Amino acid sequence: MKIATTIAEVRAQVAAWKKEGLTVGLVPTMGYLHEGHASLVDEAVRQCDRVVVSVFVNPTQFGPNEDLEDYPRDFDRDKALLEEHGCHLVFHPSVEEMYPEGAATYVEIHSDMPKQLCGKTRPIHFRGVCTVVSKLFNIVTPDKAFFGQKDAQQLAILRRMVRDLSYGIQLVGCPIVREADGLAKSSRNTYLNPQERQAALVLSQAVKLGQELVAQGERDAAKLVAAMSAHIAAQPLARIDYVEAVDGVTMEPVETLQGTVLVAMAVYIGKTRLIDNFIVEGL
Ligand code: PAF
Repeated sequence: MKIATTIAEVRAQVAAWKKEGLTVGLVPTMGYLHEGHASLVDEAVRQCDRVVVSVFVNPTQFGPNEDLEDYPRDFDRDKALLEEHGCHLVFHPSVEEMYPEGAATYVEIHSDMPKQLCGKTRPIHFRGVCTVVSKLFNIVTPDKAFFGQKDAQQLAILRRMVRDLSYGIQLVGCPIVREADGLAKSSRNTYLNPQERQAALVLSQAVKLGQELVAQGERDAAKLVAAMSAHIAAQPLARIDYVEAVDGVTMEPVETLQGTVLVAMAVYIGKTRLIDNFIVEGL
């Protein structure tokens, strides 16, 4: 496994692979890797001849009062995990390499899509995500890129960006990976103290409850959301940011569950903001 810190090194390696006719997969990450990331790398290894994983805590997707400084980092551990999972090239650039002095160009979707769900409290987040992923696409020029379904709004927005900007890249969404007790894997779970870790189970419990209600025939979005919200609100350490049912493609709120619907939530457990979701298809 090679480690590259410059764009030039990545371009040279990818060019050599392409000359050999090899396909390239990209897994963009912010590091502090867990089994959720590992599942993306495994899928990329299954689907592509060569796999590039980027490890970069992207400052442009953090708001002024968010956890950019505190975001967990452990590149040595990340390297070991990536080596074990068959990654071929790790791209670990500095902030200066990715955003040279005076960088002022952003990629932004001008619709309500990035303003829904997480965008309500994180207004610049998806602009930062689209910008950095766009740059990674230009640097790595992968055939396929792999993203977790846990960040469902991010994946929907990136699909839109790929379509709108005609990136010839296939996006592959991979299922949420959970701890044995149901908590969705996240680098931010490390912020939780033991009491909060226990309280954080309300998210996956609400997902399960929502799935059961849909299976029992609930199609009224407001009733579904109310039941899930009530479950979360009963946990004293939890504070709901949002629980919503939205169209799976446009992220617009829905009243009735039909077609493909994303039921998503963001909940503060103490100071830590966690997300979880499920998708209902074929209604
Ligand atoms: O999902 C993430 O970890 C980040 O948003 C991404 C896609 C790596 C962009 O920084």
